[in-house]
Amino acid sequence: MKVLKSKIVFNQCRVNNIYELKVDFSGNIIPGQFFMIKPLDNSFLLPRPLSVNDVNGKKTTFLYRAEGIGTTKISKMKAGDELQLFGPLGNGFDINKLHGRTAVVGGGIGIAPLLYLTKLLGKNVDAYLGFKDITYNVCEFEKYAGNTIVVTENGSTGKKGFVTNYVEYGRYDAIVGCGPEIMMTKIIYECMKRNIKCYVSLERRMACGIGACLGCSVMTRNGIKRTCKDGPVFSGDELI
Ligand SMILES: Cc1cc2nc3c(=O)[nH]c(=O)nc-3n(C[C@H](O)[C@H](O)[C@H](O)COP(=O)(O)OP(=O)(O)OC[C@H]3O[C@@H](n4cnc5c(N)ncnc54)[C@H](O)[C@@H]3O)c2cc1C
Ligand code: FES
Repeated sequence: MKVLKSKIVFNQCRVNNIYELKVDFSGNIIPGQFFMIKPLDNSFLLPRPLSVNDVNGKKTTFLYRAEGIGTTKISKMKAGDELQLFGPLGNGFDINKLHGRTAVVGGGIGIAPLLYLTKLLGKNVDAYLGFKDITYNVCEFEKYAGNTIVVTENGSTGKKGFVTNYVEYGRYDAIVGCGPEIMMTKIIYECMKRNIKCYVSLERRMACGIGACLGCSVMTRNGIKRTCKDGPVFSGDELI
């Protein structure tokens, strides 16, 4: 884990308020890990957590939604500007537990931490990507996944409805999800019914990112856990 200044290679709008940020970083990163990120000018105090979307040699990519003060400020930064990066943080996905056929299920910007995992696992993975209406970064998954299934709530692209209704749960040895909590609850429920392994990456508001402030606590069957340090990846059957 390092705190360092890193130069932006590019920071481009993909669609609407969705941006792709590429920075210089050399070090080992496990898929599902995240960095705490902020500009150097202290225009806001707390760095914001963003998951690693992809790793290419010494370049690390993030896919993010410009949501509020912090991410909007980051979205205005340009190639060559410097950012403060703190990470990689969190446990990430344990690839050794993902044997056999795996489905990754992402909802909206929840697709972000699933790409690097898909890349490492390769064609044994099917990617189910759910969006409200406008889709993004689908072709990145198509490069690496065995099958990529796109679902939009209004049916404007791909299948119509909720992505969780299209996952063929019984075909998989493990399911990995990231997205809105209601989506992850459904995935966990369907997996528990069938006794399928299930891992989800959680989002909580974070302050320190290293387990010190307890601001990101989540109740589990094994007591209170910190999303930043014990997670953000949890086994579905551990969550209440
Ligand atoms: C481990 C982790 C990984 C993440 N990875 C990504 C990623 O790859 N891409 C991405 O776009 N976002 C990701 N997020 C969410 C991202 O960190 C928040 O959107 C961001 O911190 C919001 O900061 P802001 O200053 O833009 O918004 P603020 O001005 O602080 O808040 C704007 C709105 O967003 C809500 N909000 C802020 N943070 C969160 C949160 N963590 N969960 C739910 N609602 C929140 C606030 O309540 C408010 O309504 C991740 C969060 C965590 C904890
Ligand atoms: S953000 Fe401080 S303990 Fe997790």
